[in-house]
Amino acid sequence: MRASLINIMSDDTLYTKKQKRIVDFAFDEQVASVFGDMLERSIPAYRELIAMLGVFADEYYQKGSVCYDLGCSLGAASFSLANRLQSREQNNTFKIIAVDNSEPMLKRCQSSIKNLSLENNIRTELADINQIDISHASIVVLNFTLQFISIDKRLDLLKKIVQGLNPGGVLILSEKCMFENSNDKEFYEKIYYQYKRANGYSNLEIAQKREALEKVLLAESAETHVQRLKSAGFSSVYRWYQCFQFNSFCAIR
Ligand SMILES: C[S@@+](CC[C@H](N)C(=O)[O-])C[C@H]1O[C@@H](n2cnc3c(N)ncnc32)[C@H](O)[C@@H]1O
Repeated sequence: MRASLINIMSDDTLYTKKQKRIVDFAFDEQVASVFGDMLERSIPAYRELIAMLGVFADEYYQKGSVCYDLGCSLGAASFSLANRLQSREQNNTFKIIAVDNSEPMLKRCQSSIKNLSLENNIRTELADINQIDISHASIVVLNFTLQFISIDKRLDLLKKIVQGLNPGGVLILSEKCMFENSNDKEFYEKIYYQYKRANGYSNLEIAQKREALEKVLLAESAETHVQRLKSAGFSSVYRWYQCFQFNSFCAIR
């Protein structure tokens, strides 16, 4: 492997101590500094999911097209795509545009790009993904990003992605989903918190992080995502991954 996919800098201890007041979760300096560890311990099979993006690149990348990583954070998805594209594109002319509106995240992403000598292939953009142009794309990744976009903007964003994709291009959309049915909701929450405890998070950390995310991570059901992807104009939608509440969809233009 030429590109290291996950950049773990420090342990996530953000919610270890009891906080007087829980402030809304934000992708700020504090979060960015522990984000690699947070993702790995909070999203089941995150590492495998990231690695699998390379398999989608093998299948769907079109020569001369552009890949987009929307809400790239530390750049794990971009590096996974780059890792596969490097091994198949002899002259390394592939282009990935990695977008995030968090400066602390993007700074770390840029330094990894430099360390991996990918400056000619991955361009970063500090921008709101609702505002950027998307064109000539064969692969667009929204890996746990749409859930942080306000619900009324989601359809327009997906429509823009469909319009920017070449025919046969794909969107990989990963989301934490919610369940309407109270039995399902209870079962998946219970098992997910067990998973977090198994990864070293205390009940206090779990409770405080949950409260911090409450108004920020707006989860919808898997069915709502599939319906919206179809309404946006994707011709086929496949739910190719699920573990607990975490789902990933491949939507083909
Ligand atoms: C859960 S993280 C994504 C993780 C990352 N895609 C990965 O696979 O490792 C969500 C990211 O989306 C970014 N984000 C949220 N809203 C955004 C927006 N409107 N425009 C650009 N980036 C946004 C956040 O700053 C954060 O870095």
